[in-house]
Amino acid sequence: MKEVIIEGLGKYTPSNLVTNDQLSEIIDTSDEWIYSRTGIKSRYISKGENTSDMAAKAGEKALENANISPLDVDLLIVATCTPDMFTPSTACIVQSIIGTDNALAFDISAACSGFIYGLDVAKAMIGSNNYKHALVIGAENLSKSLDWEDRSTCVLFGDGAGAAVLSKSDNIGLISSFCKSVGEKYECLTIGGNDVDSPFVESKIIRDSKLRMDGGEIFKFAISVIVNSINKILEENNLDINDIDYIIPHQANVRIIQYAAKKLKVDIDKFYMNMEEYGNTSGASIPIALSDMNEKGLLKKDSKIILVGFGAGLTYGATLINWAI
Ligand code: UT7
Repeated sequence: MKEVIIEGLGKYTPSNLVTNDQLSEIIDTSDEWIYSRTGIKSRYISKGENTSDMAAKAGEKALENANISPLDVDLLIVATCTPDMFTPSTACIVQSIIGTDNALAFDISAACSGFIYGLDVAKAMIGSNNYKHALVIGAENLSKSLDWEDRSTCVLFGDGAGAAVLSKSDNIGLISSFCKSVGEKYECLTIGGNDVDSPFVESKIIRDSKLRMDGGEIFKFAISVIVNSINKILEENNLDINDIDYIIPHQANVRIIQYAAKKLKVDIDKFYMNMEEYGNTSGASIPIALSDMNEKGLLKKDSKIILVGFGAGLTYGATLINWAI
């Protein structure tokens, strides 16, 4: 067995659905502005659940969907930019909740591209080690890192988690992928850490612990990398865009997808979108979308799917999948 397939999917969101109208009662914004600029109508906001709580629930659902016991998981990866703590990893906390006692567990920090990075790393590790099953989870509690007085960011994001079980197989599943980062643009999107301070520091460096973003810069970056990543992955696999059944992009902004679709000369319906309900859930957005599609019966055997993500880092990447089950 040399291939890796996705054998199960799951998602979890907090029950607290917050509409644009509700936000306009807290800050100076409107449903009209948010929906017309982003395509977002609502988002789920945690009332106390942390990233690991949501990750564990999505992970349990994916294991159930794949009919695999937690004890059969060899590798547990959580992609998140909103970990519960600096250390231990959120993945280790999730391991303690769901009881994947035989797994090695670690986090990936690649923000909204984290799930794509996670699939790539898991596939490589399954290929080079004696691992059979990996659980890859994208999970975020972004609401704890938002500045709720900054209307240019707090209306965009939501909380939630999505998960996939990857298994070694004879069938072709994860065909190829391509991940990149552009560190020189790291300041475009940040969530700061601890202040740099100790008895040896002469002048304390205060870090901004809230999410800050240059929206315009990321908007341009996103369109360019979505188009380039899709073209690259098609070219590398000798495929045409018409061979692809669905493209699942990171769910940040409907206008980004519309521009990308126009540049690729492809019908917008090829892009699966659900940001209207969930907002931008960063590393959770692609696995939540995949899980939604699975629940709706949209993933048919041998469908060709491209996942494409971009985000803080800056990072980006794409994965070509043959839906194998
Ligand atoms: O997950 C990956 C990372 N994030 C992204 O992918 C985000 C990418 N960027 C975007 O989606 C868009 O740039 C935004 C949605 C963030 C912003 O849209 P925009 O069309 O670029 O708006 P803008 O920042 O140029 O702001 C236009 C106006 C400003 O007012 P003035 O200066 O023209 O008077 C803002 O103050 O809209 C104002 N504004 C708002 N008005 C009402 C900004 N936020 C809001 C708001 N409600 N929530």
